[in-house]
Amino acid sequence: MTDHAPAYRVHIETFGCQMNEYDTELVRSLLRAEGFTFTEDRDQADVVLMNTCAIREHAHNRVYGHLAELKAVKRRRHLIVGVLGCMAQNLKSDLVENEPVVDILAGPDAYRRLGGLLLDALQAGVRGAAVDLSEYETYQDILPERTEGINAWIAVMRGCDNFCTFCVVPYTRGRERSRDPEGVIREAEHLAGQGYKQVTLLGQNVNSYRFGNWDFARLVTAVADVPGLERVRFTSPHPKDFPPALLDAVAGHPKICKHIHLPVQSGNDRILEMMNRTYTRKEYLALVEEIRRRGDIALTTDIICGFCTETDEEFMDTSRLVEEVGYHAAFIFKYSERKHTIAARKHPDDVPEQVKSERVSRLVERQRGISLNKNQQLVGCSFEALVEGDAKKSSAQWMGRTDNNTTVIWEKSDPLTRPGDLVSIRIVRASAATLFGVEAGSAPA
Ligand code: SAH
Ligand code: SF4
Ligand code: F3S
Repeated sequence: MTDHAPAYRVHIETFGCQMNEYDTELVRSLLRAEGFTFTEDRDQADVVLMNTCAIREHAHNRVYGHLAELKAVKRRRHLIVGVLGCMAQNLKSDLVENEPVVDILAGPDAYRRLGGLLLDALQAGVRGAAVDLSEYETYQDILPERTEGINAWIAVMRGCDNFCTFCVVPYTRGRERSRDPEGVIREAEHLAGQGYKQVTLLGQNVNSYRFGNWDFARLVTAVADVPGLERVRFTSPHPKDFPPALLDAVAGHPKICKHIHLPVQSGNDRILEMMNRTYTRKEYLALVEEIRRRGDIALTTDIICGFCTETDEEFMDTSRLVEEVGYHAAFIFKYSERKHTIAARKHPDDVPEQVKSERVSRLVERQRGISLNKNQQLVGCSFEALVEGDAKKSSAQWMGRTDNNTTVIWEKSDPLTRPGDLVSIRIVRASAATLFGVEAGSAPA
């Protein structure tokens, strides 16, 4: 290998949220432009990069597990190990000092410097870190090297200014900043031209999008108007930024999916206040009501159990809210104290582990019952499903999603069906997480 053509092979593992998946696509594009190549096989790689998440302890532990494996590999052969993403940003020098296996660190705003850091490490054995956060970096000019499929991510804003007291994201991703809408729309047009059927607009706080006199309602509508796209989704929004114009856009635009992820975190006002969520239970329920008034829009949520000082009665408020709203699905987490957050500095993490786990299990059970009930009511109805690919369990079946974002599985019957097609499916059976159906689209009704 010469200095002129360093065809170094990079293997990337991605943890965490969709924004990290998107960032991995950005990193591939940035490194490819500097002459790097990629391999799926870790054993063939000169460089292993881990794009990490810091949201909960569990996410951290997975990365430490992988680092231990890489330590063993490094004893056998030369390998450069890089940690990217939120954990790199959150732990910074701790990681470099305490984990000699790590050669380089790059935080989410520093990926333009990654290629240089890697070459220094590969060619001169120099360890390095780039963990400066930026108020401006949106990677506006970088076209991500996307994973094939029917869905393409577009990050439209980065960072978060909300400082929910439990959350590490404002520290790992820095201040909120939005991309120029012209660039976003041009990218959506390009994606439609490439055959992508669905675009998902991403942001840590996607509906806080603002650029000049563009707000999120205007942006999502403009993207949904791009010819060739069938579906537009967005994640993750915050309940504080749902003006009527945005609700009208979701309810009224045929290409914007009828699904809103509306993270509630808790159903108790004292806990919501301590979390700095900026809404009360009543205000949240009023928003749910406003959404419901506009028609059949599926709601999903995120919930934290066992936040600092949460009593059993306060947890029951959350449980009752879950029942009252009747979510399609909920992601339910144990509170996990994160370094640097306001909660870690100001509030005791005093709910015993076992109580947290027990609250999570109770709520998961409750939600499972609600989801099952909702899905069973759909048996006999027909829905358009966007075909994503083979079902996990059998290549004789397709997997797709309804507009509401529920997974649908059906036997392949029409030989002309392809991923990216919209197919009409009649539901014949349902579980809490999945609908099972038959193709109803090929023959006219
Ligand atoms: N920006 C998004 C959430 C990103 S994190 C939003 O505001 O909705 C995704 C979810 O992880 C959060 O909604 C929350 O439920 C959970 N989460 C965040 N920090 C956590 C922590 N310290 N412990 C447990 N769960 C946490
Ligand atoms: Fe974290 Fe709150 Fe920002 Fe979401 S809105 S990323 S939970 S601080
Ligand atoms: Fe994790 Fe960072 Fe996403 S902490 S959830 S990868 S924004």
